[in-house]
Amino acid sequence: MKSFVKIIAIVAVLITVTSCHNKRERNYHFFPNMYESEGYETYSESAVFNASELPVEGTIKRGWMPFEIENSPAGKQFAKDSLINPLKTTEANLAKGKELYGVYCAICHGKKGKGDGELVKREKFLGVPDYKTRDINDGSIYHVIYYGLNSMGSHAAQLNENERWQVSMYVSKLKADLK
Ligand code: HEC
Repeated sequence: MKSFVKIIAIVAVLITVTSCHNKRERNYHFFPNMYESEGYETYSESAVFNASELPVEGTIKRGWMPFEIENSPAGKQFAKDSLINPLKTTEANLAKGKELYGVYCAICHGKKGKGDGELVKREKFLGVPDYKTRDINDGSIYHVIYYGLNSMGSHAAQLNENERWQVSMYVSKLKADLK
């Protein structure tokens, strides 16, 4: 009789333990936080960061130099009249400018700046000028690289300040060679 009670007791315990198991759910979670992490929506508010922890206004990322001249025809003219390429015209700067021009600009403007890049040849992008026809200098080219011009997009994110000047230097050389 005693052993019968024991058996009943053991079976009861087993039923209690196993009855909670749900086959459709994962088994016992050892570190539940790792399985059920809190999911955040992109750009949603978060308790982790609050407004007081945002960078103060005017903060810029390392290596980024803000460009004070405005994005307008007047700004472009001002850049043309006042900006001077701070880099020396050296073989190294021209070589770097050529390399970057090859990566970012030649696809539209063509290797020599004639406005006959691959995209133009395939008629994917039109209205790309021959540099010869444009009244440009290092300052205005810098402005155009920074902000773009009409259908030409900005390249400020691809090129840092130094690189923009190197490319400007190279484009000026291309224009001079086209004459
Ligand atoms: C997707 C094609 C495309 C790419 C890439 C491109 N450009 Fe242009 N670019 C244009 C077009 C189109 C114009 C003519 C814009 C206008 O005058 O309306 C132009 C105009 C210019 C001008 C003449 C601006 C003026 O004052 O008349 C310069 C200089 C120039 N681009 C430099 C560059 C440089 C440097 C790069 C690379 C960093 C570059 N472009 C990349 C399409 C492109």
